Amino acid sequence: MKIAIVFDRIRGEEKSLALEAKHAGCTTELIDGRTLFFEATAKRSKQRFGDVVLQRCISYYRSLFLTRIMENFGTYVINTSKVSDICGNKLIGSMVLAKAGVPTPRTYVALSSEAVDQAAEALGYPIVLKPFVGSWGRMISIAKDAQTLDTIVELKESIPNPIEHMYYLQDFVERPPRDIRAIVAGDEIVATVYRNAAANEWRTNVARGATTTSFTPDKELKEIVLKAAHAVGGGILGVDVMESSDGYVVHEVNNTVEFKGAQAASKTKIAKKMIEYVIRSAKR
Ligand SMILES: Nc1ncnc2c1ncn2[C@@H]1O[C@H](COP(=O)(O)OP(=O)(O)O)[C@@H](O)[C@H]1O
Ligand SMILES: [Mg+2]
Repeated sequence: MKIAIVFDRIRGEEKSLALEAKHAGCTTELIDGRTLFFEATAKRSKQRFGDVVLQRCISYYRSLFLTRIMENFGTYVINTSKVSDICGNKLIGSMVLAKAGVPTPRTYVALSSEAVDQAAEALGYPIVLKPFVGSWGRMISIAKDAQTLDTIVELKESIPNPIEHMYYLQDFVERPPRDIRAIVAGDEIVATVYRNAAANEWRTNVARGATTTSFTPDKELKEIVLKAAHAVGGGILGVDVMESSDGYVVHEVNNTVEFKGAQAASKTKIAKKMIEYVIRSAKR
């Protein structure tokens, strides 16, 4: 079996995925997505990537476009574009999780600055504002009151990009200074770690300096994690969970999951588990 791994920045994670694929007896190719071009209107493509493609591009649009193109030419891509569509956009992700009955923070969307104040009032302060597309905790802010929200809105309105002129507003969840990252491959929870926030940082992303510690999930957490993964369409996913006073809440499901931090704390070989899943699903 040939597994192609597409990337746009090669990290240790992509290298270990390629190595594990080789160990499993597969032919592997690491493909730099930035070098690719296609005749988009062709009925079929001469470009053969492999029996299955593992999508690892960091860029949201590149990843989504490339998956769509490859699927259009009949290639099986993990994760599918359907899953990427849901997970890559926080608004769609929140709606899908809530509809599936997965506990998730209450979220409002305002479709222009005119509607923000009313949405904020309905939600109540403090409010977490997030970009619709993004990761690593970037551009996520807390508005503790209307004055702060006004400033954030003013700043966003000055950015000449229409997506900045719509607003994703979420309940600030009271929780310990950590969250949970669960890595899922199909029906299996491969690793669960706490991400402990760095000093003077409320966001718990590893990209923001959080440190990880492994732990054994309880039954309730396992159920919620798998339900969330299933709700977005399944595959290789990172489910982010917070421990609220009312129990677990899933704040997002990541499509191209980073696992450097989780790997640092777990004994399980995460890349190996991911490759095993890729092989299993490509055989189906
Ligand atoms: N509603 C919330 N309440 C409290 N903390 C939050 C909330 N949403 C996000 N966070 C914190 O911010 C981090 C980043 O948010 P997240 O939605 O996962 O976006 P990203 O895609 O940038 O990781 C989370 O890991 C968590 O620590
Ligand atoms: Mg996250």
